[in-house]
Amino acid sequence: MDGMNVLSIKDTSKSYGNIEALNGLNLQVQQGEIWGILGPNGSGKTTILGIVLGIIHQDSGSFHWFEDKYGDHVRTKLGALLETPNFYPYLHADDNLAIIRHIKRSKETNFDQLLELVGLKERRKSKFSGYSLGMRQRLAIAAALVGDPEVLILDEPTNGLDPAGIADVRSIILKIASRGKTIIMASHMLDEVEKICSHVAILKKGRLLTEGLVGSILSDDMTIELQSEDLVLLEKILREMNQVNQIRRINSILEITVPKGFDSATLNRQLMDKGIVLQQLVIKKHSLETEFLEIVNK
Ligand SMILES: Nc1ncnc2c1ncn2[C@@H]1O[C@H](COP(=O)(O)OP(=O)(O)OP(=O)(O)O)[C@@H](O)[C@H]1O
Ligand SMILES: [Mg+2]
Repeated sequence: MDGMNVLSIKDTSKSYGNIEALNGLNLQVQQGEIWGILGPNGSGKTTILGIVLGIIHQDSGSFHWFEDKYGDHVRTKLGALLETPNFYPYLHADDNLAIIRHIKRSKETNFDQLLELVGLKERRKSKFSGYSLGMRQRLAIAAALVGDPEVLILDEPTNGLDPAGIADVRSIILKIASRGKTIIMASHMLDEVEKICSHVAILKKGRLLTEGLVGSILSDDMTIELQSEDLVLLEKILREMNQVNQIRRINSILEITVPKGFDSATLNRQLMDKGIVLQQLVIKKHSLETEFLEIVNK
Protein backbone atom coordinates (compact mmCIF):
# COMPACT_ATOMS: atom_id res chain seq x y z
CA MET A 1 0.00 0.00 0.00
CA ASP A 2 2.87 2.35 0.72
CA GLY A 3 3.51 4.92 -1.96
CA MET A 4 0.15 4.29 -3.57
CA ASN A 5 -1.34 7.15 -5.51
CA VAL A 6 -4.27 8.35 -3.44
CA LEU A 7 -5.39 11.29 -5.54
CA SER A 8 -4.46 12.43 -8.99
CA ILE A 9 -5.84 15.73 -10.27
CA LYS A 10 -5.28 16.56 -13.93
CA ASP A 11 -5.68 19.89 -15.74
CA THR A 12 -8.72 20.79 -13.69
CA SER A 13 -10.43 24.14 -14.12
CA LYS A 14 -13.53 25.78 -12.76
CA SER A 15 -15.01 29.21 -13.40
CA TYR A 16 -17.97 31.03 -11.98
CA GLY A 17 -19.05 33.37 -14.75
CA ASN A 18 -15.90 35.27 -15.54
CA ILE A 19 -14.21 34.42 -12.25
CA GLU A 20 -11.57 31.71 -12.67
CA ALA A 21 -11.77 29.86 -9.37
CA LEU A 22 -9.35 27.19 -10.56
CA ASN A 23 -7.09 27.15 -13.59
CA GLY A 24 -5.49 23.97 -14.92
CA LEU A 25 -4.65 22.34 -11.61
CA ASN A 26 -2.40 19.29 -11.53
CA LEU A 27 -1.66 17.57 -8.25
CA GLN A 28 -0.54 14.11 -7.13
CA VAL A 29 -1.10 12.93 -3.58
CA GLN A 30 0.53 9.71 -2.36
CA GLN A 31 -0.54 7.62 0.58
CA GLY A 32 0.43 8.96 3.99
CA GLU A 33 1.23 12.46 2.77
CA ILE A 34 -0.20 15.47 4.56
CA TRP A 35 -0.95 18.16 2.03
CA GLY A 36 -1.53 21.78 2.83
CA ILE A 37 -3.41 23.67 0.14
CA LEU A 38 -2.11 27.11 0.97
CA GLY A 39 -3.37 30.38 -0.43
CA PRO A 40 -5.08 33.64 0.43
CA ASN A 41 -8.85 34.15 0.49
CA GLY A 42 -10.46 33.40 -2.82
CA SER A 43 -7.49 31.52 -4.26
CA GLY A 44 -9.52 28.38 -4.98
CA LYS A 45 -8.80 26.15 -1.97
CA THR A 46 -12.41 25.28 -1.14
CA THR A 47 -13.12 24.86 -4.85
CA ILE A 48 -10.44 22.16 -5.09
CA LEU A 49 -11.74 20.30 -2.06
CA GLY A 50 -15.34 20.61 -3.32
CA ILE A 51 -14.36 19.21 -6.72
CA VAL A 52 -12.48 16.17 -5.44
CA LEU A 53 -15.37 15.41 -3.09
CA GLY A 54 -17.83 15.56 -5.96
CA ILE A 55 -19.72 18.51 -4.46
CA ILE A 56 -18.62 20.99 -7.14
CA HIS A 57 -18.43 19.96 -10.77
CA GLN A 58 -15.31 21.01 -12.66
CA ASP A 59 -15.58 22.59 -16.13
CA SER A 60 -12.68 20.59 -17.49
CA GLY A 61 -10.02 18.15 -16.35
CA SER A 62 -10.32 15.04 -14.23
CA PHE A 63 -9.40 13.52 -10.91
CA HIS A 64 -8.97 9.95 -9.73
CA TRP A 65 -9.03 8.56 -6.21
CA PHE A 66 -6.92 5.50 -5.38
CA GLU A 67 -6.20 4.84 -9.05
CA ASP A 68 -9.94 4.10 -9.40
CA LYS A 69 -9.65 0.85 -7.49
CA TYR A 70 -12.70 1.49 -5.30
CA GLY A 71 -15.04 2.56 -8.10
CA ASP A 72 -18.30 3.99 -6.78
CA HIS A 73 -17.46 3.08 -3.18
CA VAL A 74 -14.69 5.64 -2.96
CA ARG A 75 -16.80 8.07 -0.92
CA THR A 76 -16.67 5.72 2.07
CA LYS A 77 -12.85 6.00 2.02
CA LEU A 78 -12.99 9.78 2.42
CA GLY A 79 -13.77 11.74 5.55
CA ALA A 80 -14.39 15.41 5.02
CA LEU A 81 -14.85 18.55 7.02
CA LEU A 82 -15.75 21.43 4.72
CA GLU A 83 -17.95 23.35 7.07
CA THR A 84 -19.20 22.53 10.55
CA PRO A 85 -21.86 19.88 10.05
CA ASN A 86 -25.37 20.49 11.29
CA PHE A 87 -25.30 18.64 14.55
CA TYR A 88 -28.49 18.37 16.57
CA PRO A 89 -28.19 21.00 19.29
CA TYR A 90 -30.24 19.06 21.84
CA LEU A 91 -28.31 15.80 21.37
CA HIS A 92 -25.03 14.85 23.01
CA ALA A 93 -21.86 13.78 21.18
CA ASP A 94 -22.61 10.06 21.19
CA ASP A 95 -26.05 10.52 19.67
CA ASN A 96 -24.86 13.02 17.10
CA LEU A 97 -22.10 10.61 16.04
CA ALA A 98 -24.63 7.75 15.92
CA ILE A 99 -26.63 9.74 13.38
CA ILE A 100 -23.50 10.34 11.31
CA ARG A 101 -22.71 6.62 11.54
CA HIS A 102 -26.18 5.82 10.23
CA ILE A 103 -25.79 8.26 7.32
CA LYS A 104 -22.39 6.76 6.47
CA ARG A 105 -23.74 3.20 6.88
CA SER A 106 -20.78 2.47 9.10
CA LYS A 107 -20.76 -0.44 11.53
CA GLU A 108 -18.70 1.31 14.19
CA THR A 109 -20.15 0.23 17.52
CA ASN A 110 -18.54 2.50 20.01
CA PHE A 111 -17.05 5.93 19.77
CA ASP A 112 -14.64 5.67 22.70
CA GLN A 113 -11.46 5.90 20.68
CA LEU A 114 -12.81 8.63 18.48
CA LEU A 115 -13.94 10.77 21.41
CA GLU A 116 -10.68 10.10 23.19
CA LEU A 117 -8.75 11.26 20.13
CA VAL A 118 -10.64 14.56 19.90
CA GLY A 119 -10.67 15.07 23.66
CA LEU A 120 -14.44 14.92 24.12
CA LYS A 121 -14.71 11.72 26.14
CA GLU A 122 -15.59 13.55 29.34
CA ARG A 123 -18.18 15.70 27.61
CA ARG A 124 -19.75 13.00 25.47
CA LYS A 125 -23.06 13.21 27.33
CA SER A 126 -23.30 17.02 27.19
CA LYS A 127 -25.70 18.60 24.72
CA PHE A 128 -24.10 19.97 21.57
CA SER A 129 -25.76 23.36 22.19
CA GLY A 130 -23.55 23.78 25.25
CA TYR A 131 -20.31 23.09 23.36
CA SER A 132 -17.69 25.77 22.83
CA LEU A 133 -16.52 26.54 19.30
CA GLY A 134 -13.41 24.42 19.80
CA MET A 135 -15.47 21.48 21.08
CA ARG A 136 -17.80 21.79 18.09
CA GLN A 137 -14.88 21.71 15.71
CA ARG A 138 -13.38 18.70 17.47
CA LEU A 139 -16.70 16.87 17.26
CA ALA A 140 -16.79 17.73 13.55
CA ILE A 141 -13.38 16.11 13.13
CA ALA A 142 -14.65 13.04 14.98
CA ALA A 143 -17.66 12.97 12.66
CA ALA A 144 -15.37 13.08 9.63
CA LEU A 145 -13.50 10.08 11.04
CA VAL A 146 -16.58 7.90 11.55
CA GLY A 147 -16.21 4.84 9.32
CA ASP A 148 -12.40 4.99 9.53
CA PRO A 149 -11.73 6.71 6.17
CA GLU A 150 -8.30 6.45 4.55
CA VAL A 151 -8.22 10.12 3.65
CA LEU A 152 -9.21 13.11 5.71
CA ILE A 153 -10.11 16.34 3.92
CA LEU A 154 -10.22 19.47 6.03
CA ASP A 155 -11.12 22.99 4.96
CA GLU A 156 -9.50 25.53 7.30
CA PRO A 157 -9.93 23.32 10.36
CA THR A 158 -8.70 25.94 12.83
CA ASN A 159 -10.71 28.86 11.49
CA GLY A 160 -12.22 31.02 14.20
CA LEU A 161 -10.58 29.18 17.10
CA ASP A 162 -8.55 30.78 19.86
CA PRO A 163 -4.85 29.87 20.25
CA ALA A 164 -5.59 26.98 22.63
CA GLY A 165 -8.30 25.67 20.31
CA ILE A 166 -5.94 25.94 17.35
CA ALA A 167 -3.26 24.00 19.22
CA ASP A 168 -5.79 21.28 20.14
CA VAL A 169 -6.97 20.83 16.58
CA ARG A 170 -3.41 20.79 15.24
CA SER A 171 -2.33 18.10 17.65
CA ILE A 172 -5.39 16.03 16.75
CA ILE A 173 -4.53 16.30 13.06
CA LEU A 174 -0.95 15.23 13.76
CA LYS A 175 -2.21 12.23 15.73
CA ILE A 176 -4.45 11.21 12.85
CA ALA A 177 -1.52 11.58 10.46
CA SER A 178 0.68 9.43 12.69
CA ARG A 179 -1.81 6.62 12.15
CA GLY A 180 -0.88 6.61 8.48
CA LYS A 181 -3.91 8.48 7.14
CA THR A 182 -3.55 10.73 4.15
CA ILE A 183 -4.66 14.29 4.89
CA ILE A 184 -5.51 17.12 2.54
CA MET A 185 -6.04 20.39 4.31
CA ALA A 186 -6.80 23.90 3.09
CA SER A 187 -5.24 26.73 5.01
CA HIS A 188 -4.32 30.37 4.57
CA MET A 189 -1.74 30.20 7.36
CA LEU A 190 1.85 29.51 6.40
CA ASP A 191 2.91 28.50 9.91
CA GLU A 192 0.02 26.06 10.19
CA VAL A 193 1.11 24.29 7.02
CA GLU A 194 4.72 24.32 8.17
CA LYS A 195 3.77 22.77 11.50
CA ILE A 196 1.41 20.11 10.24
CA CYS A 197 2.02 19.26 6.61
CA SER A 198 4.58 17.18 4.75
CA HIS A 199 3.66 18.73 1.41
CA VAL A 200 2.31 22.04 0.25
CA ALA A 201 0.58 23.40 -2.83
CA ILE A 202 0.58 27.20 -3.00
CA LEU A 203 -2.29 28.76 -4.88
CA LYS A 204 -2.98 32.24 -6.10
CA LYS A 205 -6.10 33.24 -7.98
CA GLY A 206 -6.85 29.67 -8.95
CA ARG A 207 -3.37 28.93 -10.21
CA LEU A 208 -0.83 26.62 -8.64
CA LEU A 209 2.33 28.64 -8.00
CA THR A 210 4.38 25.77 -6.68
CA GLU A 211 4.05 22.43 -4.94
CA GLY A 212 6.22 19.88 -3.22
CA LEU A 213 7.75 18.98 0.10
CA VAL A 214 7.20 21.60 2.79
CA GLY A 215 10.88 21.39 3.68
CA SER A 216 11.95 22.24 0.17
CA ILE A 217 9.47 24.99 -0.55
CA LEU A 218 9.19 26.70 2.80
CA SER A 219 12.89 26.50 3.61
CA ASP A 220 16.21 27.16 1.97
CA ASP A 221 16.54 23.59 0.74
CA MET A 222 16.62 23.07 -3.00
CA THR A 223 14.50 20.66 -4.94
CA ILE A 224 15.97 18.87 -7.92
CA GLU A 225 14.09 16.79 -10.44
CA LEU A 226 15.97 13.85 -11.89
CA GLN A 227 15.11 11.49 -14.66
CA SER A 228 16.95 8.43 -15.86
CA GLU A 229 16.30 5.10 -17.58
CA ASP A 230 16.81 3.06 -14.40
CA LEU A 231 14.92 4.90 -11.67
CA VAL A 232 15.23 2.04 -9.21
CA LEU A 233 19.01 2.10 -9.39
CA LEU A 234 19.04 5.91 -9.33
CA GLU A 235 16.91 5.96 -6.20
CA LYS A 236 19.13 3.34 -4.53
CA ILE A 237 22.26 5.40 -5.19
CA LEU A 238 20.63 8.64 -4.05
CA ARG A 239 19.55 7.03 -0.79
CA GLU A 240 23.17 6.36 0.00
CA MET A 241 24.13 10.00 -0.45
CA ASN A 242 24.38 12.04 2.74
CA GLN A 243 23.32 15.32 1.26
CA VAL A 244 20.09 14.01 -0.21
CA ASN A 245 17.43 14.74 2.40
CA GLN A 246 14.28 13.46 0.82
CA ILE A 247 13.35 11.49 -2.26
CA ARG A 248 9.94 11.40 -3.85
CA ARG A 249 8.90 9.57 -6.98
CA ILE A 250 6.43 11.27 -9.30
CA ASN A 251 5.67 9.07 -12.29
CA SER A 252 8.97 8.82 -14.19
CA ILE A 253 10.72 11.53 -12.18
CA LEU A 254 12.57 11.49 -8.87
CA GLU A 255 12.29 14.67 -6.86
CA ILE A 256 15.02 15.13 -4.26
CA THR A 257 15.66 17.82 -1.70
CA VAL A 258 19.19 18.87 -0.94
CA PRO A 259 20.69 21.66 1.19
CA LYS A 260 21.16 25.14 -0.22
CA GLY A 261 24.41 25.43 -2.14
CA PHE A 262 24.35 21.80 -3.21
CA ASP A 263 26.54 21.23 -6.25
CA SER A 264 24.41 19.60 -8.93
CA ALA A 265 27.32 19.26 -11.36
CA THR A 266 29.15 17.08 -8.84
CA LEU A 267 26.00 15.04 -8.39
CA ASN A 268 25.80 14.50 -12.13
CA ARG A 269 29.43 13.38 -12.23
CA GLN A 270 29.02 11.05 -9.25
CA LEU A 271 26.02 9.44 -10.89
CA MET A 272 27.93 9.09 -14.16
CA ASP A 273 30.68 7.23 -12.28
CA LYS A 274 28.06 4.77 -11.08
CA GLY A 275 26.77 4.22 -14.58
CA ILE A 276 23.70 6.45 -14.37
CA VAL A 277 23.06 8.77 -17.30
CA LEU A 278 20.61 11.49 -16.38
CA GLN A 279 18.03 12.46 -18.98
CA GLN A 280 16.97 15.38 -16.89
CA LEU A 281 18.33 17.45 -14.01
CA VAL A 282 16.15 20.42 -13.19
CA ILE A 283 16.75 22.67 -10.21
CA LYS A 284 13.43 24.00 -9.00
CA LYS A 285 12.88 27.30 -7.33
CA HIS A 286 13.43 27.46 -3.59
CA SER A 287 12.67 29.66 -0.62
CA LEU A 288 9.18 30.79 -1.50
CA GLU A 289 8.46 32.01 1.97
CA THR A 290 8.98 35.67 1.15
CA GLU A 291 7.05 35.32 -2.04
CA PHE A 292 4.22 33.61 -0.21
CA LEU A 293 4.05 36.27 2.49
CA GLU A 294 3.93 38.92 -0.21
CA ILE A 295 0.97 37.16 -1.77
CA VAL A 296 -1.00 36.74 1.43
CA ASN A 297 -0.33 40.23 2.66
CA LYS A 298 -1.61 41.86 -0.49
N1 LIG B 1 -20.68 29.61 -5.76
C1 LIG B 1 -19.88 30.57 -6.23
N2 LIG B 1 -20.35 31.52 -7.05
C2 LIG B 1 -19.53 32.47 -7.56
N3 LIG B 1 -18.20 32.57 -7.29
C3 LIG B 1 -17.69 31.65 -6.47
C4 LIG B 1 -18.48 30.61 -5.89
N4 LIG B 1 -17.68 29.84 -5.13
C5 LIG B 1 -16.44 30.39 -5.21
N5 LIG B 1 -16.45 31.48 -6.03
C6 LIG B 1 -15.27 32.30 -6.35
O1 LIG B 1 -14.21 31.45 -6.76
C7 LIG B 1 -12.97 31.92 -6.24
C8 LIG B 1 -12.33 30.83 -5.39
O2 LIG B 1 -13.13 30.61 -4.25
P1 LIG B 1 -12.78 29.55 -3.11
O3 LIG B 1 -13.91 29.55 -2.17
O4 LIG B 1 -12.40 28.27 -3.73
O5 LIG B 1 -11.49 30.22 -2.45
P2 LIG B 1 -10.76 29.89 -1.07
O6 LIG B 1 -9.31 29.83 -1.38
O7 LIG B 1 -11.38 28.71 -0.44
O8 LIG B 1 -11.05 31.18 -0.21
P3 LIG B 1 -11.22 31.35 1.40
O9 LIG B 1 -9.84 31.39 1.99
O10 LIG B 1 -11.90 32.67 1.53
O11 LIG B 1 -12.04 30.21 1.90
C9 LIG B 1 -13.28 33.20 -5.48
O12 LIG B 1 -13.05 34.29 -6.32
C10 LIG B 1 -14.76 33.07 -5.17
O13 LIG B 1 -15.35 34.34 -5.07
MG1 LIG C 1 -12.33 28.42 1.39
